[in-house]
Amino acid sequence: MNVGILGSGDVGKALAAGFLKHGHNAVLGTRDPAKLSDWLARHRGARTGSFSETAKFGEVVVLAVKGTMALEALRGAGTVNLAGKPVIDATNPIADAPPVNGVIKFFTNLDESLMERLQREFPQAHFVKAFNSVGHRLMINPQLKGGKPTMFICGNEEAAKRTMRGILDQFGWETADMGKAEAARAIEPLCMLWLIPGFLRNEWSHAFKLLRQE
Ligand SMILES: NC(=O)c1ccc[n+]([C@@H]2O[C@H](COP(=O)([O-])OP(=O)(O)OC[C@H]3O[C@@H](n4cnc5c(N)ncnc54)[C@H](OP(=O)(O)O)[C@@H]3O)[C@@H](O)[C@H]2O)c1
Repeated sequence: MNVGILGSGDVGKALAAGFLKHGHNAVLGTRDPAKLSDWLARHRGARTGSFSETAKFGEVVVLAVKGTMALEALRGAGTVNLAGKPVIDATNPIADAPPVNGVIKFFTNLDESLMERLQREFPQAHFVKAFNSVGHRLMINPQLKGGKPTMFICGNEEAAKRTMRGILDQFGWETADMGKAEAARAIEPLCMLWLIPGFLRNEWSHAFKLLRQE
């Protein structure tokens, strides 16, 4: 697949490396390609582009920018370049405020997630929440003591979620589909929970797993 990744921070780079590792084509979208020259030299086949070039390139688009900038980045990508495509939303609505006892602040509330805002503003794009509840170092084929971890996903479009499930199979994750876009109200705060051991005890090597009765 051709994958266009909007955002060139830790998450954009980790996912781009994962897509390349699994035989996909990846373009990393940034406002400043010069800062990626070292990274490009170390990742054969990777390319960079503007946000609109990147979204146009992608059969699948990944959104991996700072949460406060998510709408702006999508506007830069362009409505027509997102229409009809799965848009994997890895963002979290983290406010520009310091954590309190390890607990971060959101700029959304429990009755409206960031992904619902994005879906409302770009109704023709098929958003799927994923990758937001784990650190970038564990996104690609994580090796964890308890076996395969669970990625909680949601989104309104079944075909986009099937594409997402295929990617997660390749990336070594079990998928738990939580339903439509509203479920992002529950999935986005998992990032808050995931971060607490990091801020309190400098522990960053964990992931969530959904356990079921036999
Ligand atoms: N770090 C993690 O382990 C992790 C894990 C799960 C989810 N997340 C979420 O994933 C997202 C990306 O996180 P990150 O840690 O990779 O990096 P980040 O520092 O949160 O975001 C970096 C990206 O945001 C873009 N950006 C910043 N200001 C912008 C603006 N005004 N307009 C458009 N784009 C702008 C930057 O674009 P340029 O390249 O153009 O500078 C850069 O690509 C966040 O929403 C974060 O909450 C992070």
